[in-house]
Amino acid sequence: MEAGTEFVPSDFTRLSRSPRPVFKRKVYDDIFQGRLSLALAQVEGVKVYRFSVLPKGESAMPSTHALAPGSDIAFDVLEGDARLGLAKVLSGCTFQQSLRARFEFSFPLAKTACCLGLGERYSSLNLRGARHTLCSTDNPNHDESSDSLYKAIPFSIFLDDGLASACFLDSSAPQIYDLDSELDGQVRIELLSARGFSFYYFDRAPLAQIVAAYTALTGRSELPPRWALGHQQSRWSYPDAETVRELAREFRRRRIPCDTLVLDIDYMDDYRVFTSDKGRFPDFKGLIEELARDNFRLVTIVDPGVKLDKDYKIYQEGLKLELFCRDAKGEVFVDRVWPGRSVFPDFQMEATRKWWAEKLQFYYDNGVSGIWNDMNEPAFFDTRFIPVSSFDELPETGEQPFLQRDDADGEPTTVGHLEVRNLYGSMMCEATYNAALAARPGERPFVLTRSAFAGIQRHAAVWLGDNKSWWEHLRKSLPMLLNVGLSGVPFAGVDIGGFGETCSPEMLLRWYEVGIFFPFFRNHCWLKGRAQEPFAYGAAVEEKARRLIELRYSLLPYISGLFHEHRQTGAPLMRPLLYHYPQDAMALNCHDQFMFGADILVAPVMERAQTHRYVYLPEAGSQWTALAGDKTYEGGRSHYLDMPLGTCPAFVREGAILPLADAMQSTAEYEQAAITFKVYGQQGSAVFYEDDGKSFDYKEGGFAQWQLAYSEGFLSRLMGGHYKTSRRYFLQKPDGSKIPVQL
Ligand code: GLC
Repeated sequence: MEAGTEFVPSDFTRLSRSPRPVFKRKVYDDIFQGRLSLALAQVEGVKVYRFSVLPKGESAMPSTHALAPGSDIAFDVLEGDARLGLAKVLSGCTFQQSLRARFEFSFPLAKTACCLGLGERYSSLNLRGARHTLCSTDNPNHDESSDSLYKAIPFSIFLDDGLASACFLDSSAPQIYDLDSELDGQVRIELLSARGFSFYYFDRAPLAQIVAAYTALTGRSELPPRWALGHQQSRWSYPDAETVRELAREFRRRRIPCDTLVLDIDYMDDYRVFTSDKGRFPDFKGLIEELARDNFRLVTIVDPGVKLDKDYKIYQEGLKLELFCRDAKGEVFVDRVWPGRSVFPDFQMEATRKWWAEKLQFYYDNGVSGIWNDMNEPAFFDTRFIPVSSFDELPETGEQPFLQRDDADGEPTTVGHLEVRNLYGSMMCEATYNAALAARPGERPFVLTRSAFAGIQRHAAVWLGDNKSWWEHLRKSLPMLLNVGLSGVPFAGVDIGGFGETCSPEMLLRWYEVGIFFPFFRNHCWLKGRAQEPFAYGAAVEEKARRLIELRYSLLPYISGLFHEHRQTGAPLMRPLLYHYPQDAMALNCHDQFMFGADILVAPVMERAQTHRYVYLPEAGSQWTALAGDKTYEGGRSHYLDMPLGTCPAFVREGAILPLADAMQSTAEYEQAAITFKVYGQQGSAVFYEDDGKSFDYKEGGFAQWQLAYSEGFLSRLMGGHYKTSRRYFLQKPDGSKIPVQL
């Protein structure tokens, strides 16, 4: 096609009156005149090429904060024409600058390749056949026709013939990934930016190794505090102290395990961040102490929007210190969010992040255990969607909604908001994480976020925003979480029961059946639907929900081990079947099942009135055992299984040894709980990990990592660390008998 011509897929599209922009593909000449370089590093055994682009007129590469600080990955600059070099290593890849603020990469995609990653996509597991725009967007009504969502993680993976390659486009500006949407066998990546950036290409390797290399570059999660792995109960909103007390009492009285209660926006004084409402929460600190005596933690929501109120200290201070975002005329940018007219901290500046971290001490002083950062795309009620996918290039700085100041490299430079929008949530989380460390040195922070960029795993857990109590959203939570995990973020979940609309008892149970395997395990919903706590639907539902939640707690030793594994290898906790069975054709297209670590396969029911489903169990010749009930099934084929409500839809691999804790009401009882090593099959082996669950001592040997094996007898060998507990351990043999064992 010639430069300047326009490609419109069909006349019908041209005539369509859809409010979504008509997809146009223009062909432009290359106008690039800046500097390019190609460099190579070996990361986790993967060849990683870095193609750096500095457009003409730009003096330095901006930092996107995506790379893990201190990671000592040394890239060797490769001599020669960088563009030719790239075309060679990523076969047939072309690069060009098409307009002042638009860059393009394009390369062929193998016919059979499956596309994965890209953070949070409303999609089945394979992202192929669609355009995917990365521009952080608050879309509480997302469905199949939605594109950008809350997170923007520009890490795309291409799996073909058992091996994967991947691209990481390290720029916080909007990006559009066309993954063969026109069935022409091409990947086209558009970056709408005028700034410099790096494009990393990960050469073919096993998928697990690719994820290891990406997370070596962008960092891995520290171990979360154990309490944050327990059951969390949230609602928009528990409006006053008495409701919160009652909630706590109900959980304990009914013996439904729970660690954390969450306060949504109504704890604040008219939605002013860093306040609590004196009328409804007369003794905020006292309430938190009281809850702590009953082993409950409190997490509070914190939104970035600061209420525009001239009598509000935080507003006055931020204004005086010039920490709020301003428009091109120099006026402070104002938009509406929950507090009404609000202003927005410029988290791109270190001074703002420090200030915010200081202000957050309000929560830690009151005894709050964790912070939930919401609305941090940032979301605006007036400026709702930014139609990025219809832009040919990024608008000029002065035409963007507002400006930010970027001081990552010393002196602040002014930058249009859209250049750094995808980073806003992550920068807020960095401030929050540092605030937690400052308040409680030595304690593992818990930060939860809705918006995120690459590298977020270093500072926060994520949930996938406003889903609905729809079966389709229950189903979608699997592929969505799987792609989030492959994008480097292990600590992830969705609102159990669904956030919007109304959850039926059946749906709640089905959601808990799979939700006990979400790394982040929280029930949350809005104020309009019916109550959604596990005891809100009568005795029969409550009993089933209790058993499922108890099962989650019994899996905590295994889950802790998976987080430890993530730290070592970058592996997510929830993994698509293809992660472990890349040569298995059935595993490749499976997005309604997943692996929870290498040992547990989860195949939930996600349809209304469905009581059976086909479960595909890989590996011919092996056996799988139901996690609850102990029935065994052959691997290498599908089974049509009876799955009544309240079922645990999980199967354990033959040869595994699962560490299972005794029942508990909260993780405060974890230290005392006995752990049983249950052998699946006639013999098995496992790595068992434990530590104190709260400090960073594990970084200095304060952990114990054991190699366990069982065939005729039981063997344990300490592989590392010196952590000791006084708990009791048991072995459950293949014949079901249980004996005490020593570690
Ligand atoms: C947003 C959040 C939701 C929260 C609500 C009120 O919609 O995504 O989780 O409950 O705001 O704060």
